[in-house]
Amino acid sequence: MSGALLLSSSPKSMATWRRELLALAPDLDLRLYPETGAAEDIVAALTWNHPPEDLFRYPNLKVLISMGAGVDHLFRPPGPPPGVAIVRLVDRLLTSAMSEYVLLAVLRHHRQAEIYRAQQRTRIWHELPPPDTERTRIGIMGLGVLGTDAARKLATLGFQVAGWSRRPKSVEGVESFVGREGLTPFLARTDILVCLLPLTSETRGILNRDTFARLPKGAYVINVARGGHLVEDDLLDALDSGHLSGATLDVFETEPLPGEHPFWGHPKIILTPHIASATVPRSCAPQVIENLRRLAAGEPLLNTVDPVAGY
Ligand code: NAP
Ligand code: GLV
Repeated sequence: MSGALLLSSSPKSMATWRRELLALAPDLDLRLYPETGAAEDIVAALTWNHPPEDLFRYPNLKVLISMGAGVDHLFRPPGPPPGVAIVRLVDRLLTSAMSEYVLLAVLRHHRQAEIYRAQQRTRIWHELPPPDTERTRIGIMGLGVLGTDAARKLATLGFQVAGWSRRPKSVEGVESFVGREGLTPFLARTDILVCLLPLTSETRGILNRDTFARLPKGAYVINVARGGHLVEDDLLDALDSGHLSGATLDVFETEPLPGEHPFWGHPKIILTPHIASATVPRSCAPQVIENLRRLAAGEPLLNTVDPVAGY
């Protein structure tokens, strides 16, 4: 590639990426933000939560690569510079780690693990009614790379699985619901709701009072997508009224979650610090190098993002 790749994330992550990229392409001209050198040299940028306005400084920037599956960080105002291609990471390990997390959250709720753990603490020997897997309906919002893998794996376990997406999907063992008109019937048949949508202007705040009201009483919510999908006060109200039975949350509007936030101590919430699926640079570096090669050769890029749809 003629030109340099700008790398921007935490110092630790940049060091790991640098090692993995140079192992594959020792001659790569890498610039670690903020040590960018001449702005004209930069033709590609691999970033995570980079200040969006800074990307307008590089007149020869041609491609922006998200350091993760999500690209919402690239669309924060003022948005990406016009005409720059956007790509993201699609990776076997990223996908399987997300499915592990979703399966864990589903099964922990389904098999009443928290209740049995509490019983153990107080030395109570008490059998609850056994869960009925075949009658438990899981609904996955977002049947993309991550949602489809989780859906398939949950269907294999015997759950009734459905997905909701913009366009119809054909995934074996998974019922497809589509668009705004498909949302109400999708929610009405969902006992465990999993959010794996990208955060866009259409999906921001989609986990709200109205959505929760359309779920059956006692439904459970798992948000592993973005904190911006969830209206936090609406979740607290739905949990406290008893309409929702609980929630597992990995992502939050403000990260790190502030120490005084009510989610921390809520008895019906299980939370983790945005770790459902972390990018593994070793696994993802080859696709970055391949995209840089394609960029130089004028070939179509891998894992492109539609700048209008925002994902
Ligand atoms: P993806 O492949 O782009 O899939 C997105 C899915 O959402 C598609 O099925 C898409 O529908 C659907 N969708 C988008 N907008 C919609 C709308 N308005 N109405 C209905 N459906 C809509 O994304 P992915 O790779 O699966 O990743 C999903 C998200 O997971 C990422 O954007 C990121 O925010 C999050 N994530 C979180 C973590 C974590 O550690 N917590 C890790 C990785 C990713 P169509 O298929 O019809 O286009
Ligand atoms: C993580 O949140 C990602 O989008 O990869």
